[in-house]
Amino acid sequence: MEHIRVVGGARLTGDVTVTGAKNSVLKLMAASLLAEGHTTITSVPEILDVDDMGVVLTRLGVTVEHVGSAVHIDVPAELGTEIDYALVRRMRAAINLLGPLLARCGRARVALPGGDNIGSRALDMHVGGLAKMGAQIESEHGYLIAHAPSLTGAQVFLDFPSVGATENLLMAGVLAKGTTVIDNAAREPEIVDLCTMLSEMGAQIGGAGTSTLEVEGVERLRPTEHETVPDRIVVGTFAMAAAMSQGDITVHGARPEHLELVLYKLAEAGATVEAAGRSIRVTMDRRPRAVDVVTLPYPGFPTDLQPMAMALAAVSDGAAMITENVFEARFMFVDELVRLGADVRTDGHHAVVRGRAKLSGAPVRATDVRAGAGLVLAGIVADGVTDVSDVFHIDRGYAGFVGQLRGLGAEVSRVEGAESLTF
Ligand code: EPU
Repeated sequence: MEHIRVVGGARLTGDVTVTGAKNSVLKLMAASLLAEGHTTITSVPEILDVDDMGVVLTRLGVTVEHVGSAVHIDVPAELGTEIDYALVRRMRAAINLLGPLLARCGRARVALPGGDNIGSRALDMHVGGLAKMGAQIESEHGYLIAHAPSLTGAQVFLDFPSVGATENLLMAGVLAKGTTVIDNAAREPEIVDLCTMLSEMGAQIGGAGTSTLEVEGVERLRPTEHETVPDRIVVGTFAMAAAMSQGDITVHGARPEHLELVLYKLAEAGATVEAAGRSIRVTMDRRPRAVDVVTLPYPGFPTDLQPMAMALAAVSDGAAMITENVFEARFMFVDELVRLGADVRTDGHHAVVRGRAKLSGAPVRATDVRAGAGLVLAGIVADGVTDVSDVFHIDRGYAGFVGQLRGLGAEVSRVEGAESLTF
């Protein structure tokens, strides 16, 4: 198993360019199922999750070709409707095929993903919303078995602005009979991106980017060509890296308006933040000041940048309170950060981080994609060597992360892991 090895101490400087968002492109690929024919998605990152979504679509009878930064998807008239556990376990976003499959085929059999390293991740809002639209959904032998000879528009109130539930209901609503209203809908830029692509396909959607989405169902959609929105979480990761390493990084290909709160927090920590067009420059010339962070659905501080915010707090001057409101188990990586010498105390969904001037390198394990990136950043500001294992998590969401960090001056490489011990 490969590790990412970081030799700490570098000040990161230079330019880096980001591509499309993992959490958008996976749903755009799911949306392509809604129209027979050839859809092209561009600005696609080369990450494991995209490969896995390609495999899932292929199993449904779709032809998928990833050429450079474009994915070409040929959707046949007849689709398979079963997604097995092995596929959903590897890539949770496969659950986002439930809505499109019901809309296109009137049925679907999708394995329940189960819990993961960031929490229990229930599906009640996906299921409850689709049921309101006329689907009959049962859970049997670890599968959701859904039937809906025809979907009918309905008004659905979400208890929480769930990204995944909003996306499934949108993709079901675009081909349903009548009007679907999703209240307390998620407002993430990735949802707006999905609405844009669906509209290009001929869907009638009002309210994109607000908490009320109104969808007028149409008879059929057409395939399209669509460019994925930039990955604000990858942009935020590099912005945090600049602040933590007291460096100077310009991120190109970004949409600064998608990161307003994150950039505000970095400025509060003492960084100089300059946003111009599609570029963001973050410069830090002193030790960062500790800043509190509270994760919330967009436009709140993204939970996906919480591990990086915690790593930043670990080397900041003062104490910071980090509050995690989206995923119950996202503090699981705290024990790994503590292995690097961080002073963190958690109590429920709050963590108090007392900053230290330096962390100290150690072997640590990536518990999920974002925790993995946060640990690599922590390694960069630690003395000595940090080996981050289970790097497949990082590969799920960061394209060429090690190469990009090296380009910014970090001493980081992929190395073969130690032989496993047998007892
Ligand atoms: N929830 C429910 N019931 C539901 C749906 C969600 O209780 O029916 C709960 C979840 O358990 C969780 C919270 O609501 O506690 C938020 O879940 P949400 O549905 O918003 O998240 P998701 O769609 O499962 C996506 C991203 C996550 C990102 C979150 C929040 C993808 C593939 N995943 O997950 O990304 O953290 O939205 O922004 O889009 C990551 O990239 O590392 C990642 C985990």
